Amino acid sequence: MDGVLATNLAGLRLRNPVILAAGTCGVLDEMRQVLDLSLIGAVTTKSITREPREGNETWRIIESRCGMLNAIGLANPGLDAFLSAWVPRARAMPCAVIASVAGFSIDDYVAVAAHLEEWAEAGIPAVELNVSCPNVKTGTEFGSSPALVREVVSAVRAVLKRCRLFVKLGPMTPELPLVARSAAEAGADALTICNTIPAMEIDVETRRPRLANVTGGLSGPALHPVAVKLVWDVRRAVGATPILGAGGVMRWHDAAEFILAGAAAVQMGTALFADPRSPRGVVRGMERWVRRQRAATVGDLVGTVDLETKTQVRHP
Ligand SMILES: Cc1cc2nc3c(=O)[nH]c(=O)nc-3n(C[C@H](O)[C@H](O)[C@H](O)COP(=O)(O)O)c2cc1C
Repeated sequence: MDGVLATNLAGLRLRNPVILAAGTCGVLDEMRQVLDLSLIGAVTTKSITREPREGNETWRIIESRCGMLNAIGLANPGLDAFLSAWVPRARAMPCAVIASVAGFSIDDYVAVAAHLEEWAEAGIPAVELNVSCPNVKTGTEFGSSPALVREVVSAVRAVLKRCRLFVKLGPMTPELPLVARSAAEAGADALTICNTIPAMEIDVETRRPRLANVTGGLSGPALHPVAVKLVWDVRRAVGATPILGAGGVMRWHDAAEFILAGAAAVQMGTALFADPRSPRGVVRGMERWVRRQRAATVGDLVGTVDLETKTQVRHP
């Protein structure tokens, strides 16, 4: 792993900084059927809860003008099935695996994380706490204030000795930079910025909400500039703690923007629904971009947005 895109996220060495986002690429390894996972840096699993969940009624994913709305409601096989049927395959994955964890109490997060810790050297080197799911009641609670995030992150940190701990926050979090700093101080090794934006669409003929859950989360291109700004804000608040930028990475430019704003890596979700092979183009484009920028590695470009030079705006 010594190409120009080689990335080190709190000791987790990745071939490149392109990661598949939680909930958009199956439970663990299903994307292998359509995408050569040896070309990307990592996959993030579906968010796993203590108990299995059916999730919300359909429709729970719809196309929107500038992205997608989803209200999946954390459908997942639950911890026991995940440990017995999926995790043993993690070691054979040709890229790193980040296990996403969701919960409804601190005990939930700790219980799931503690089991995953046992696999730290057997295919699950990192855990991402989803404290920002907008589609279940109480889902946003733990990411919504510096005090709550500190509580959940400290409790999980206490049981994760070898697994890295990433924390995923939402774009509507009040005072997001403060919450991010609180997560970092409580022991987060990296921060994922961001989850979807709460959103709603209505069919004007039937006058009914287009999602059965009424509201959902907006992802994709509409989210991208919002997420770039949030990464930039958080970077200034947390300094050296690595950031994973998520939101509307559809092509390499979007990934490069995140890097310049301060992300050490990017996640792709909605793009996989349009073209599950799109991460290949993002990796190739970024590699060429890093060389054109005459940087030794992509890490040298993190947070290097030029705020000084006055130049004409170019439209890519
Ligand atoms: C269908 C769908 C399911 C998702 N499920 C999860 C999930 O289980 N856990 C989570 O942390 N984020 C989940 N997300 C959010 C994504 O991981 C990502 O943060 C968000 O979609 C923004 O990235 P994107 O614009 O590239 O999709 C989901 C997103 C979509 C579209």
